[in-house]
Amino acid sequence: MILLDGKETANRLNEQLKLRIIDAYKTYGRIPELDVILVGDHPASLSYIRGKERACKKVGMAYRLHHLKTDVSQKELEALIDQLNEDVNVDGMILQLPIPKHLDEVSLIDRIRIDKDADGFHVINQGNMYQKRKAIHPATPQGIMMLLDAYDIDVKGMNATIIGRSNIVGFPVARLLMDRNATITVCHSKTKDLSEHTKNADIIIAAVGVPRMLKKEMVKPGAIIIDVGINRIDDKLIGDVDFEALKDVVGYMTPVPKGVGPMTISALMDNTFSLYFAHVNNA
Ligand SMILES: NC(=O)c1ccc[n+]([C@@H]2O[C@H](COP(=O)([O-])OP(=O)(O)OC[C@H]3O[C@@H](n4cnc5c(N)ncnc54)[C@H](OP(=O)(O)O)[C@@H]3O)[C@@H](O)[C@H]2O)c1
Repeated sequence: MILLDGKETANRLNEQLKLRIIDAYKTYGRIPELDVILVGDHPASLSYIRGKERACKKVGMAYRLHHLKTDVSQKELEALIDQLNEDVNVDGMILQLPIPKHLDEVSLIDRIRIDKDADGFHVINQGNMYQKRKAIHPATPQGIMMLLDAYDIDVKGMNATIIGRSNIVGFPVARLLMDRNATITVCHSKTKDLSEHTKNADIIIAAVGVPRMLKKEMVKPGAIIIDVGINRIDDKLIGDVDFEALKDVVGYMTPVPKGVGPMTISALMDNTFSLYFAHVNNA
């Protein structure tokens, strides 16, 4: 089995991005800036944003955190987003999810100007992506594509089974794999016989949130396995794939941690740089 090492790949891509940022700074006189809006103290979110801050430091991007109390009102959040939309130093912003239930997530995401939508979650960015127009792609699906590229994996003609259909992972990853001429099957909680779909797959993307749910008997020998799942059990991170059981059967596999997670952050850095590049060129 070849390990798809997201950490090592992300480090390499981040080094390359750092050089591009140094060059861009010489030309445009400023560095890109990513702003993160965090509501409350969700432990997983705190850990994710630390990862984003570290990555910004590594590539030489400015990072600004707006940490708000759990009971922040919709109006206050809207005002902050409006302010960041108008701030010429802010190239990309993200609203760290999940946010408390009293807030309207969809309208807040759609309030972020699309030229600052570093996560690619805005409905217009997603619409552009689904229609194969120029768009910022959601970071996790984009990070998975970058990882496949790094290992020269061409999915053309492959059967791809995606488990999960969320707007941020499963559904957009299906679109991006279809763009690369894979044949797509998307499974979800109502799928009758999951194994029937996974056993046929040359590549499986597991994006569910159920620890070790993809078992050895569900995959075909030599398959490519991308484990998106992050499940916290006793302070340990466990993927959606039974890594130990599959490792002698499959062809390629991502670990958890150090697989898709670092690639997601690398894609976020890339997205922010693209937004910055458009800003400095249109200034
Ligand atoms: N590594 C990273 O950077 C990264 C980034 C984002 C998310 N994640 C992780 O990836 C996982 C998925 O995230 P998400 O945001 O896409 O989650 P989500 O919105 O909860 O979606 C989960 C999907 O899995 C499906 N599902 C649930 N139980 C299933 C089952 N037993 N069999 C088949 N499908 C099932 C659901 O089906 P229905 O649609 O029918 O409900 C849904 O489509 C989570 O563990 C999350 O923490 C990791």
